[in-house]
Amino acid sequence: MAGEAHPTIGVPGAVDREELRVKRELFDIPEGVIYLDGNSLGAPPRHVAERMQEVVKHQWGERLIRSWTEGWWEAPQRIGDRIGRLIGSAPGQVVVGDSTSVNVFKALMGAVKGTSRTEIVCDESTFPTDGYIAQSVASLAGLKIRAARPSSLDLTEDTAVVLLNHVDYRTGELHDMKALTEQAHGVGAQVVWDLCHSAGVLPIELDALGVDFAIGCTYKFLNGGPGSPAFIYVPQHKQGTFENPLSGWNGHREPFAMEPAYEPDPGIVRARVGTPDILSMLALDAALDVWDDVDLAELRQRGLALTALFRKHVEKLTGLEVITPEVRGNQISVRCPDAGTVMRELIARGVIGDHRPPDVLRFGFAPLYVTDEDAIKAAEILADVTR
Ligand SMILES: Cc1ncc(COP(=O)(O)O)c(C=O)c1O
Repeated sequence: MAGEAHPTIGVPGAVDREELRVKRELFDIPEGVIYLDGNSLGAPPRHVAERMQEVVKHQWGERLIRSWTEGWWEAPQRIGDRIGRLIGSAPGQVVVGDSTSVNVFKALMGAVKGTSRTEIVCDESTFPTDGYIAQSVASLAGLKIRAARPSSLDLTEDTAVVLLNHVDYRTGELHDMKALTEQAHGVGAQVVWDLCHSAGVLPIELDALGVDFAIGCTYKFLNGGPGSPAFIYVPQHKQGTFENPLSGWNGHREPFAMEPAYEPDPGIVRARVGTPDILSMLALDAALDVWDDVDLAELRQRGLALTALFRKHVEKLTGLEVITPEVRGNQISVRCPDAGTVMRELIARGVIGDHRPPDVLRFGFAPLYVTDEDAIKAAEILADVTR
């Protein structure tokens, strides 16, 4: 694939095969498995298990409660900054904790607080949890909810906030963050971006684009582990007025003063709620070590090249329709009758992807551990299974 031009980037997509192999060595993936489900649950970096042993044995077992003042308490902000680097946020604007669903709630409630506008607009094809939470927020805040396609949002001065998925979880389509953020701001609305399928996939410029809020999970392309804590981005200029609807003691200005009245921390800490899930958070922290030297622009090139390669082979070898548009994340979705049965057969033959009802096979390409050979072989096995 090296050197093939790609229309969504417009520059040669140089894939360094050697480097892909080197990174693969950092991950625990069983022999014989082609793992194409990093868009659901990323593979574990090999050193995480050992680190967690140290965390349990030393930090928890030996240091006991002292560990809270030896790094645990600040972990949500410290790890938030590590993620911030990957999503175009200056330090002090991202905090890790809670689930994506909970963070969608915080961000949306924060966005509609005090508004005289009347509607929340939600991506029509959003991952369901975002839509469900938006409905709760609309009902709690007395607003209407309107579903719309990102390509025709029809925003007006009634729109308080727009909730958008950066990459569509079903088709893999990548939405234009710059244009859509500008569109929302053009009518004075705010925008909340769900980065679940784009964090760790491509360079994101939250600060530069003036995004109002962003949230995302860490268990997909960021390899944080099953149920690892999510993140929320609140830019500096919004922090003073951002009202966290879940006013837990971790977001208090003086959490250990044990005051009866809630007074929020002046900064990003106000987005915290309760005691962080330290074991999961430190597994994420360890996993992020593999991300420290990753150049996201280069990674993006590899992701585009891998997905292009897989698409080409699927189209050549199977009669199946690829529904992922050219402007995409690291995912290729294929329409396939009886998708559940086909995926079970693929998994039995070592190709692990997933399916979404009624008829979509999803294949995620994490360039840190998926190789060109994997992409070609997976397409060949898919052709064999569906022949
Ligand atoms: C776009 C998107 N938002 C949210 C979620 C899940 O939210 P939570 O981590 O709260 O289960 C997913 C899970 O796949 C997702 O794809």
